[in-house]
Amino acid sequence: MKMFVAGEWKETSETIDVVNPYDDSVIDTIPKAGAGDVDAALATLVEGARVMRQMPAFERARILERAADLVQERVEDLARTISMEEGKVLAEARVEAQRGGEVLAVSAEEAKRVAGEMIPLDAAENGAGKMGFTLRIPCGVVAAITPFNFPLNLVTHKVGPAIAGGNAVIVKPATDTPLSALKLTEILLEAGMPESAIACITGSGGELGKAICEDDRVRKISFTGSYEVGDAICRIAGMKKVTMELGSNSPVIIMDDADLDKAAQAVCAAGYSNAGQVCISAQRILTSSKVGGDFLDALRPKVEALTLGDQLADDSKMGPMVRERDAERVEEWINEAVAAGAQLVTGGKRERSLYQPTILDKVDPDMRVSREELFGPAVAVSRFDNIEDAIRMANDTTFGLSAGVFTQDLDRAMRFAREVDSGNIHINWSSQWRADFMPYGGLKHSGMGKEGPRYALRDMTEEKTVVLHLNQ
Ligand code: SIN
Repeated sequence: MKMFVAGEWKETSETIDVVNPYDDSVIDTIPKAGAGDVDAALATLVEGARVMRQMPAFERARILERAADLVQERVEDLARTISMEEGKVLAEARVEAQRGGEVLAVSAEEAKRVAGEMIPLDAAENGAGKMGFTLRIPCGVVAAITPFNFPLNLVTHKVGPAIAGGNAVIVKPATDTPLSALKLTEILLEAGMPESAIACITGSGGELGKAICEDDRVRKISFTGSYEVGDAICRIAGMKKVTMELGSNSPVIIMDDADLDKAAQAVCAAGYSNAGQVCISAQRILTSSKVGGDFLDALRPKVEALTLGDQLADDSKMGPMVRERDAERVEEWINEAVAAGAQLVTGGKRERSLYQPTILDKVDPDMRVSREELFGPAVAVSRFDNIEDAIRMANDTTFGLSAGVFTQDLDRAMRFAREVDSGNIHINWSSQWRADFMPYGGLKHSGMGKEGPRYALRDMTEEKTVVLHLNQ
């Protein structure tokens, strides 16, 4: 496919192959843009930002509504694209494509609600006779730098609110999975997005990301990806506004009064969907030592029933990881944990980019499979003896994106909700659950700012205070 830069679909002399991670077959090629292309894109987007700023809310909403409808009409094609470039099974890719359409539809609604507030200035003596209110205005040019793991939906989470807020947008999709974002760009243009107000630039993340993030024509950066890259972006962003949706090693806590079947069902879904490549995957399973064995007995058959194979085949429940080198890393960390005393309950084998769904028990929290973000199809089970230990272990991490706790006791549940340092807490479900309109974002190294169109919009707009000095 071509990229969309400076108001037109463009090719470059150098290209990058987009491959199917299951068999490494080339499914398409994309342009390898350079810093000059970023410069050209931003020059046009500055013009586009002026057009967007003048565009009334109802028109912005209509563009988003039409785009939402087009996504739903093309769900099957988008799902195949997502599945082929990223590796998630078709059933999961269909859900992602539908979610993308819904995010655009919710963004359309939010476009109609961008509002300021009245400020009661006469609350102070010197404010008597004055009137104050705030206005929300667009930031200008927004950069959306998006990850490989949800190549459509996590783009809509940035582009939708950016358009709702009246901004121009430059999308830099993940190098490995650019096709879904390019198809979304086609859809947005077809839905009426001004050509000057959107760009989707493809190429190497490091070079383009740096050129975009250090350029002062960009006023707001919204990034989803690893902590390391997020940290590097924040260092070069200077005074730009940033939203960072970063990684995690999410804990799921199983108390001794938990419904173990429900917990096993939730952990199975949360540990292995998209081959564990989800920011809120269940990674650290902390179980009460009283029920650890029974929990594993409930979990193991469910995990062993996950058929691993070609993501496009009907009977596959889990597909490949996005790159063979990621599967090799997961293999290395798991082998290292087993060599250091962790117990392999099931899985543990790799073939090319396919890594078996794996359970490790008796994991020491200092092992890399527990301490760092694994982003792969394995859960690491550790035991605790009391609630204080469970909370301490859950918080013994630099991350804090999402957590789950299983207990029948409301007081305990609320204690976890208050004391576990995490942006989202699920009571009687795993860490991996999201409604796209809810506030979603992490604490600590898991990021800053929130997504969910209503919440993202706050940071996709600037606030101005207007004071009327009345003559009365
Ligand atoms: C993520 O992996 O960052 C997002 C997960 C989701 O939207 O389901």
